[in-house]
Amino acid sequence: MIKKIYKSLTSTNCKAQELINQEEDPEVLWVQAHEQSEGRGLGSNEWLSEPGKNISGSLVIYPDFLKAGQQFEISITASLAVVDLLNMYFDDVKVKWPNDVLVNNKKIAGILIEHALVGEDIKYSIVGIGLNVNQEVFPDDIPNPVSIKQLLAYDVNLDELRELLLEFLANRFSQLENGHFDMMKRDYLKCLFRFKEFAPYKSGNKWLHARIMGVDSYGQLILETESGERKEFGFKEIEFIN
Ligand code: BTN
Repeated sequence: MIKKIYKSLTSTNCKAQELINQEEDPEVLWVQAHEQSEGRGLGSNEWLSEPGKNISGSLVIYPDFLKAGQQFEISITASLAVVDLLNMYFDDVKVKWPNDVLVNNKKIAGILIEHALVGEDIKYSIVGIGLNVNQEVFPDDIPNPVSIKQLLAYDVNLDELRELLLEFLANRFSQLENGHFDMMKRDYLKCLFRFKEFAPYKSGNKWLHARIMGVDSYGQLILETESGERKEFGFKEIEFIN
């Protein structure tokens, strides 16, 4: 794996894209920045991270063993690696579908995955990970953030943490490549926030009280209402209500 660590970038996902375009031979790559001026989150969200305090990085992989329709498997894999890492420190680590990582119900990490698809194939995937590590104060408009330091009350060495994260990522991606997706899916459901618990949701302007029964192979969330009716939702189609 090639590792490139920069002081300042617009976004590690963008830099990763730039490096892929320059590279002739596909090689697994990790791009990290101490500071991102235009960190991106899911949808149109931005990702704000205090310079030098957190992990902001993107892993470039070439999952030629998967088809485009299986791209959610990459999302599950990346989420599990972050959960594995956080399980070293905390008991209550959950994934809020599709791939926000929560500790004690607060968001500690976010994942932004971008795929380059060619026909049925995935040419490469850029797995962007933002993990709150040593940041102690967050802007008021960030919903429900938390960092490792806020929970442990001590600083964590960022280089050591990055190496552990990369090990967990390598482990989980090799499980995926070696055909262990069923086991990984079970692990994902085990740590899925609100799995099988009735809770409120909103879809468009419709409110529903439902429970998560799983995710389908396209990564859609499967909800079941109290009357037993099941429905799948894509990312923009459903909102978790507290
Ligand atoms: C989210 O929760 O909305 C996803 C956040 C993803 C943030 C990471 S930080 C590294 C990489 N570069 C980006 O610009 N975004 C991702």
